[in-house]
Amino acid sequence: IPVQPFDYVVFGATGDLTKRKLIPALYHRFKDGQFDESSRIIGVSRSKLSDAEFQTLARDSVAEFVEPAYQDKAVIDRFASIFSYVANDVADEANWGDLRKALRDDPKIVRAFYLAVGPDLIGPICDYLSKKKFYRRDARVVIEKPLGHDLRSSQEINDTVARIFKEDQVYRIDHYLGKETVQNLLALRFANILFEPVWNTTHIDHIQLTVAESVGAGTRGYYDESGALRDMIQNHMLQLLCLVAMEPPASDDADALRDEKLKVLRSLKSIIGEAVGRCTVRGQYRGVASETTSVKGYQDELPEDKRGSRTETFVALKAEIENWRWAGVPFYLRTGKRMATRVSEIVIQFRSIPHSIFDHAEGAPRPNRLIIRLQPDEGVKLLMMIKDPGPGGMRLREVPLNLSFAQTFEERTPEAYERLLLDVIRGNQTLFMRRDELEAAWSWVDPIREAWTRASDAPQPYSVGTWGPTGAIALIERDGRTWHEDGH
Ligand code: BG6
Repeated sequence: IPVQPFDYVVFGATGDLTKRKLIPALYHRFKDGQFDESSRIIGVSRSKLSDAEFQTLARDSVAEFVEPAYQDKAVIDRFASIFSYVANDVADEANWGDLRKALRDDPKIVRAFYLAVGPDLIGPICDYLSKKKFYRRDARVVIEKPLGHDLRSSQEINDTVARIFKEDQVYRIDHYLGKETVQNLLALRFANILFEPVWNTTHIDHIQLTVAESVGAGTRGYYDESGALRDMIQNHMLQLLCLVAMEPPASDDADALRDEKLKVLRSLKSIIGEAVGRCTVRGQYRGVASETTSVKGYQDELPEDKRGSRTETFVALKAEIENWRWAGVPFYLRTGKRMATRVSEIVIQFRSIPHSIFDHAEGAPRPNRLIIRLQPDEGVKLLMMIKDPGPGGMRLREVPLNLSFAQTFEERTPEAYERLLLDVIRGNQTLFMRRDELEAAWSWVDPIREAWTRASDAPQPYSVGTWGPTGAIALIERDGRTWHEDGH
């Protein structure tokens, strides 16, 4: 369904996020007819660009980041025509440009401000919007990570935004929530009757969440300040954990869902004191060099003055949720850069059957496992035991009941930002983080971070192209369990 016409003002319009993610996402939705030339995209940034130059930037972004099969010359021409540009240095009041020409005053036109800028510019932009009277009670503001580097700094950002915007106008992006397969977790759990009755400590032994990346940390200065705990666990992985663990919300209303996620975050057992050493592992990748390949380690990628950094590029941890549903069910989380492969998946490991009647069979029954593959090769797999067909008596074998999205659906899987950008226009906050959620997540992560900072040891090394440091394997094996490796 097409959305209402809008004026989308993008601050930080010449940055990487705009080129790589926002413009390609908007292009797809424009091409699919969800909005047309009655909407406008207004770029704001310090660079002195003309409208025509900004339109060229939009075309270049489509050319580079949209698959060739979806690039349509006529559509690109129409799409580029809705872009305009205002040069504006909000950090310097003397050089504030004026959006007034570009913005329309019609109340039927949705007004959204996307702040694709660093945290230090959020305050000045909000001031600018209010002083120049661009604020409207029904306007929306979109903010992106890093939403702080700890609880206090995130509160400061939220307070700054709240000086102007009410919570129902604020859209905090965690792009994992926009991923199709992440939303599919909701469908899987709450549109099927099969799983919910066994989704608890009686039937589930433990849960694994893995977000492994094969890329390195690169040369982003931000990463060295952040590290994997803040970059991936505090937001994306805790959001995934919430969707897996939350109680069924009463409806799909944004606050109904966010209330349930918040309860999970608040039920997380604190990892403090000696538990930090027992329940967390941090790692940093080391380069490898052989005759055929050579990949730099994290330290080698850093500028000279940052060498010796103790920033973690890998984290594994054991989380526990203190409530009736999950008592005694550990959630093992791991994420890292330069790992063996790129894969994000959730593994629900069920308990063993209570009694086996197959004592004389070949092969013992193994506990069922449900594997939800978020990316790549999206799909859902249920590993179950069957009798190996053929003569030879009862031989038990584990086989997957396999749903591959690529094989089942022909449609292109939309990128996270496509959904999120237009949900802002629709006024649907379901897939955005509420302030209390964000702060609960920081409250849980902060003591871990602080303990690591105080610790005398450095992150454990792991070689690029592996599954992380040996400590991560020990973390789960100490409990008599192993990380899932897909043999199917
Ligand atoms: C970002 C992190 O939020 O998510 C990056 O800052 C990370 O470090 C990225 O690479 C992963 O997102 P995706 O969609 O590629 O899994």
